[in-house]
Amino acid sequence: MTRPKITIVGAGNVGAQTAFLIATKGLGDLVLIDIDEKAAKGKALDLFESIPLLDHTVSVIGSTDYKLTKDSQIVVVTAGVPRKPGMSREDLIDTNAKIMTTIMSNVVKYSPDCILIIVTNPLDEMVYLAKRLSKFPRQRVLGMAGILDTTRFQAFTAQALEVQPQQVSALVLGGHADAMLPLSSLATVGGVPLATLLSSQKIQELIDRTRKAGGEIVDIMGTSAYYAPAASLTLMIESILTDQKKILPCCAELQGEYDQKGVFIGVPCVLGKKGMESIVEVPLSTEEKTIFTKTIEDIKTRYPLLNKYSSTSFLGKLFKS
Ligand code: LAC
Repeated sequence: MTRPKITIVGAGNVGAQTAFLIATKGLGDLVLIDIDEKAAKGKALDLFESIPLLDHTVSVIGSTDYKLTKDSQIVVVTAGVPRKPGMSREDLIDTNAKIMTTIMSNVVKYSPDCILIIVTNPLDEMVYLAKRLSKFPRQRVLGMAGILDTTRFQAFTAQALEVQPQQVSALVLGGHADAMLPLSSLATVGGVPLATLLSSQKIQELIDRTRKAGGEIVDIMGTSAYYAPAASLTLMIESILTDQKKILPCCAELQGEYDQKGVFIGVPCVLGKKGMESIVEVPLSTEEKTIFTKTIEDIKTRYPLLNKYSSTSFLGKLFKS
């Protein structure tokens, strides 16, 4: 029986935790790639040794060598410099763009048909760059952020109401930055609209905390979150590989949806075996539309910074190897 092959580029906290969740669910064979060979090999070996205790059999290898990633169905990119306290996600743009350029040259070479899921920050910009460099169709280039922002809003809401977190249904769209857009008017708890359960002031507090939730964790422990990001990634990977066609908020390229073209931003996407199979348009209030449009304009101002990174800048390397 052939299992799907999933490559995770970046064996740091998010990459390793995602690999472990994928193994516990038996979603596919894993390849962990990192420039730090010891981290990739050591974590892969540790995970390999856990398989007899888990419910599913998958293979796990760790390496610096992209040859081992050949013909992956999914490639998750978590590699990049994480935020330090006081840094915004945008502060990372140049460093991580360079890293992304090298990674994409290898990913495209060995897995030209894969579905890409980008996690590296600044997220919305890095997904745009991954699309430019890979030249993949938009169905196969996604960013993970909306599920993470949504689960944070759900967790804070459940805590405020002292109810089961799984009963909170919510949707956070927009950029993966402080201007993200939690659509509180759509939030329900056990089918009951959130606005009937909490005051508008309390809801606003939950929204504010959600917007800063990534930074809250960086401030507490000095580095980025990984359990909730890994759980979010696993949900996307499962929906794609098992063709569940779940509607999940992801960073995807708009081509006319929401009256926008050629921009990557968080929107509800149907995820199935083809990747991003369609984008769902949610009616936005005037205020929400203003925030959404402003965020898009803001993200677009950074696209010129990324346009110097092109696939031709790594073609030379590709042909030499
Ligand atoms: C966060 C990182 C993953 O929001 O951007 O925690």
